[in-house]
Amino acid sequence: MLTIAVSKGRIFEEALPLLAAAGIRPVENPNTSRKLILATTRDDIRLVIIRAADVPTFVEYGAADLGIAGKDVLLEHDSAGLYEPLDLGIARCRLMIAAPIDRKLVEGRIRVATKYVKSTQNYFARKGRQVEVIKLYGSMELAPLVGLSDCIVDLVDTGNTLRANGLKPLELIENISSRLVVNKAAMKMKHAAIDELVRILEQEARNVRTQEN
Ligand code: ATP
Ligand code: PRP
Repeated sequence: MLTIAVSKGRIFEEALPLLAAAGIRPVENPNTSRKLILATTRDDIRLVIIRAADVPTFVEYGAADLGIAGKDVLLEHDSAGLYEPLDLGIARCRLMIAAPIDRKLVEGRIRVATKYVKSTQNYFARKGRQVEVIKLYGSMELAPLVGLSDCIVDLVDTGNTLRANGLKPLELIENISSRLVVNKAAMKMKHAAIDELVRILEQEARNVRTQEN
């Protein structure tokens, strides 16, 4: 039995066609079911439904053999405990610095509000810039509007959320997409099954990319 950890919503929706290529279709819809363990049309594969930020933890500890997680989430997690064999090319967006449209980033120490503390610290450290990082769990866009911070670091796709709040993107930190992650012990113990799945997902992700271009 292989257990795959996925989060509800965007990643789940975008992963469905890839998983279907491997014959994996959940028998229930996680958006309507309250169940956290979902059987699939393959009796050797089940899905566990968890928060996006928890996927690396479940996989690292072997509670799931595989998982699908955003690179943004993986950058915040210690990567030594996991294999990351495949970029699935789904849930694509950008991790960016953003600030109010009418404000320039001042020189000197600035305050940055974000859920992505590690990525933010690493980025500004690479630039040799001293910042005070304020950890938030959501609604980052609000922080500069109410004087909590000078700017934010958040995910940007269409830019609609920034625009709606009078913010503009300033600098790209990282291009983001979702990755397949694999537990290190499972990669050894269940190598054949995992290898087969990785190959099918890789091929399907490539097909989707070709269709897009
Ligand atoms: P939770 O719902 O548990 O608080 P979350 O809000 O991060 O977590 P999602 O919004 O489903 O969950 O995001 C899951 C992943 O999808 C993120 O980690 C990121 O990789 C990607 N993502 C987030 N926002 C966007 C977006 N606007 N466009 C494309 N991909 C995105
Ligand atoms: C994500 C992210 C941004 C928004 C960016 O939020 O946190 O706020 O998408 O996308 P955009 O540039 O297309 O507007 P999401 O929609 O997942 O809502 P959440 O903050 O509740 O997770």
